[in-house]
Amino acid sequence: MKDRISVMIPEEKIKSRIAELGEEISRDYEGKSIHMICVLKGGVYFMTALSERIDPEIPVSLDFMSVSSYGDDTKSSGIVRIIKDLDEPVEGKDVLVVEDIIDSGRTLYYLLDMLRARKPKSLRLCTLLDKPDRRERDVKVDYTAFVVEDNFVVGCGMDYHQNYRNLPYIGQVEL
Ligand code: IMP
Ligand code: MG
Repeated sequence: MKDRISVMIPEEKIKSRIAELGEEISRDYEGKSIHMICVLKGGVYFMTALSERIDPEIPVSLDFMSVSSYGDDTKSSGIVRIIKDLDEPVEGKDVLVVEDIIDSGRTLYYLLDMLRARKPKSLRLCTLLDKPDRRERDVKVDYTAFVVEDNFVVGCGMDYHQNYRNLPYIGQVEL
C-alpha cells in the first residue's frame, strides 16, 4: 500500500454490528417494504452487506444514485451535482438511503431534500459511520453502525484518491 493505514474497526466487528443494524431495521419495517437507495460509490459495500441482514420476509428493492460534491481530497464543498439519477420513482415508497459516512452533512442534506420533494411515503437515513464533530448541516441520521472521531478513514466502500474501497475493515489513513 502506498499510504500508511492502521486498522480502526476490524472486519468481524463491522459484520456483527451490521447484523444488529439489520435486525433493528427489520423490526422497524415489519409489514412494510424497504426501497434502499445507495449513494455510489461509497455506499455500495455497506448496502449489500446490510441488505443481506434484512429479514427475508420484508421485500427489499434497490436503486442507485451518484452525486459528486466538489471539494478537496478529504473535505466536501457542499456543491452537489447529480451524476446518475435514480432509475425508479420513489413516490409512495418507504425509502432508506444508505451511505458510507456522514461528515459535514452537506451531501446528504442536499440529497435528502431532493428526495423529499419526490414524495416518498417515508424517508430514513442509514450510514455506516457518523462523524458528528464535523457536522455543518442538521441531518437526522436514523441508523448508524459506528459513531467515530474526526479522522480520515478508508475501507468498506470509503476511498482515498479512489483507492482502498475494497478493504474489508475500516482503516485510518495517516495523512
Ligand atoms: P459530507 O458532505 O461532508 O457529509 O461528506 C460526505 C462524503 O464525503 C461521504 O459520502 C464520503 O464520500 C466523503 N467522506 C467524508 N469523510 C470521509 C472519510 O473519512 N473517508 C472517506 N470519505 C469521506
Ligand atoms: Mg460518499
